[in-house]
Formats: sequence, structure tokens, C-alpha cells
Amino acid sequence: MEFEIRTLKPGPEPKITGPKVFGVRPGHPVLFAVSATGEKPLSFAAEGLPPGLTLDAQAGRFSGTLSERGEYPITLSTKNACGESKRSFKFVVGDRIALTPPLGWNSWNCFAEDVDEAKIRAAATAMAESGLADHGWSTINIDDCWQVRHPDPGRDAEGNILTNDKFPDMKALAEFIHSLGLKAGIYSSPGPLTCAGFAGSYGYEERDAARYAEWGYDYLKYDWCSYTEIAKDKSLAEYKKPYEVMRAALDKVDRDIVYSLCQYGRADVWEWGGGVGGNCWRTTGDIVDTWESMSTIGFSQNGKERHAGPGHWNDPDMMVVGQVGWGPSLHPTRLTPDEQYTHITLWSLLAAPLLIGCDMTRLDDFTVSLLTNDEVLDINQDPLGRQARRMSADGDMEVWMKELEDRSQAIGLFNRGSSPAEVAAEFKGRRMVRDVWRQQNLGPFDDGYKTAVAPHGAELIRVSNPE
Ligand code: GAL
Repeated sequence: MEFEIRTLKPGPEPKITGPKVFGVRPGHPVLFAVSATGEKPLSFAAEGLPPGLTLDAQAGRFSGTLSERGEYPITLSTKNACGESKRSFKFVVGDRIALTPPLGWNSWNCFAEDVDEAKIRAAATAMAESGLADHGWSTINIDDCWQVRHPDPGRDAEGNILTNDKFPDMKALAEFIHSLGLKAGIYSSPGPLTCAGFAGSYGYEERDAARYAEWGYDYLKYDWCSYTEIAKDKSLAEYKKPYEVMRAALDKVDRDIVYSLCQYGRADVWEWGGGVGGNCWRTTGDIVDTWESMSTIGFSQNGKERHAGPGHWNDPDMMVVGQVGWGPSLHPTRLTPDEQYTHITLWSLLAAPLLIGCDMTRLDDFTVSLLTNDEVLDINQDPLGRQARRMSADGDMEVWMKELEDRSQAIGLFNRGSSPAEVAAEFKGRRMVRDVWRQQNLGPFDDGYKTAVAPHGAELIRVSNPE
């Protein structure tokens, strides 16, 4: 298949990437690693670091705690044989975490029930060694199927959740993931069973939250499924209840755990997901690797933007680029390269959690290029935390716009049709236009910008005021 790699390979000079802000609760361990590209070895430093925090100069990892609420601006720097680069950064200590959308990987879209500990370790190793972690990718999430299968009670005599033979030691697994500078995620359901029929958390929420913390997990996906049997009616209160119960349990542990609600968008979860303490919530059913599935989900997010912001994100589901397949046999995504540009462009504009769904040990150059474009990732991770909205739709041509912290705008030009088309974005007066994927300035344009867009394809520009 013919395809165009748009992303430039990183140069040898040091460059800091990834989020520019990190939220942590008072007194909870700070788990944050600076990401940077450039020739290794790199060394790291931070100016203005508040007492309580230290930075490992070789690994670029922070550790410690901050007990006073407030904002702590610092300057990060990284050096190598070719030079030095700096970036402003901020720790925010308060009730909110996930101040930028989670950036990570999840096991479901490739392995589903075929998952095991070795595959999770391999994914974490690949995240670190493939260079993806250098661009800010940071979380390795185990999805369903680590628990004991029903009808076994799935718990010991004290009620502690048990793992199946494929996951002999969840604590050691989290430690391994952390040793690579990454964070670890786990999965459960509020009902008695998970979606794949393993033991869920119903009636054991506090015990489970405590276990996740003791094991060292940093992210929980909490998936409705068999709670349908428990919910007495279809009232809003019944939809919220299981998520409130787990929220209260998570609030009792002394660790920050990003809380990802999964109930497929029922009862307009975007209206109340933040209110029940979710950091993100699935807005749709499960994605598959077809144009129809991906584009229907992605382009239907318009209108939900007012519910997204730092600490609370709409989640249009995990990404379907690379080798996917829901286990045991994988195949290259059925999305064409242009459709994959649409997928990553749209999810980035939507400030969606970006969760890679493919086999991390079999990344090809094209997939790596889609996932390592720092200017695209910066749009997703922009600290203002706005989600794009649709500015115009003209037949198959759509223009979506995301406001950014520096007062520029990211604009996606999409062609949902099956023949080439010109797509136009309008703006007022003279603006500077940059091609984000190709990282090139296109020059000043007056009152708008128009370009050819491939069938099912996308272009992404950043528009700013002239200096
Ligand atoms: C589905 C969920 C998927 C995956 C699966 C596991 O309900 O939407 O993302 O987690 O359950 O069984």
C-alpha cells in the first residue's frame, strides 16, 4: 500500500516533549518522568523545584510528594553532547489529576482475552525501547481478563481479589512497569462480573481500591457490563451509583489513580462523569478498525466539548492503528493510511485520551510516525484542555477547531468522502498557517486557508497571529 510518512524523525539535539503540566493530590507520590528526544545519553535538571521533590538527573524521573496545594512552576532542562533545551513546566497540587489527556497503551484491542503478564511486560519494554516514551507516552494499561473467571468466587477467604494463572504477581508487574519510568493501569467492573466474565468488584470496592494502591497501580478502567443486573431501574441515580461507590473507595487510598469510566456513553455520561469524579469516560460503544466505526465515533463527538477540560475528558475509545485483532491472531489495521491520519488528527483535536491499541512489539515505521509527531501530540496535550468543535460541514467536508493555550488554533480539515476534495477553513484577517503533521510553516494567509484533502483523509494546521 502506498503511504506518505509525514512526521520528521527527531534530530540529535535534545528536545523536551510531553505534557507541560502535571496534577497531583497533596501528599500523594509524584509519578512523573520528563520525556525528551535527542541523542542518548541525556541528562535532566529542574530549576525552581519545590522542597519535597527530587529529580533523577539520568532517568529524568521525579519522586517525592508535595503537601501544600498550589501551583509550582519550574523550568525543565535536558542536555546531551549536541546542546541543551529548556521548557516551562508546572506541577499543580490539588484535587485534580489527569490535567492533560492520558497518553498510553491498553491491551484489549490487540490481545483481549489472550493477554498475559509476559505480553504486558513486552508492551512496557517496547514503549520504553521503541522511543515512544521519549514523546510522552507513559501508561501501560491491563484491560480485562487478569482476574479469576466466574463461577469461581475469584477471591480469597478475606475477600481479596485473586488473579488467574496468567498474572502470577500483579505487584511485581507494576514494579516492572514503574522501573521503566512508566505508569501502570488495571481494569475492573462495578458488577459481579467483568465484560469477559471474570470476577468484578461488586460488594468489594474498598478492598479492591486498596489492593490496586498496594500493588502500585495508577489508572483504573471501570467497565459497567454486569452492573445491568444490579441496577434496579434506568434512572440517572442508578447509572451514577456504582461510579460514586468506587470514587469513594479510591478517595481512601494514598495514591493517585486516574479513574476512567466505561459505560459506552449511557445516560449522557458526559453530563455527569466529571461530577462523579471520573477523569475520563467512554462516550461510545467499542471501536473496531474500520472506517465506518472510527469515523462514526470520531465525527459524532461534536457538542460534547463543553464537558471536557483538565482532569475530565470525553473518551471516544482506544486507537486502532498498527497490528490489532482482539487476540490471538493479529492483523494490520484495516484503516488505510489516510484514514489513520484522520483517526490520529481527530482524536488529538478532541483532547481524547490517546490509548494505543496495537501490539507494541510489532510497530512498523508508519505507525511509529503516526504516534511520534510532537506537534500533533502537543495539540492533544495542550494545557488549556479544550476539545475541538466542528466549525463547518459542507457535504463530506468538515472543519474542526481546537483553541490552544498560546491563543493559536489547531484546525483539522477532513474529507469524509471517497473522492479528493478541497477543504477550506475560514478565519478573519491575516494569520500565519503551519502544517502540523509536516512541521512546516506555510506562510501568511488572508481570511482563510484551503487545501486538497485525500479521500477519507485529513490535514492539520495551526493558525496564529503574525508576530
Ligand atoms: C468492553 C469495553 C472494552 C473492553 C472489554 C473487556 O465493555 O468497552 O473496551 O474493556 O469490555 O471485556
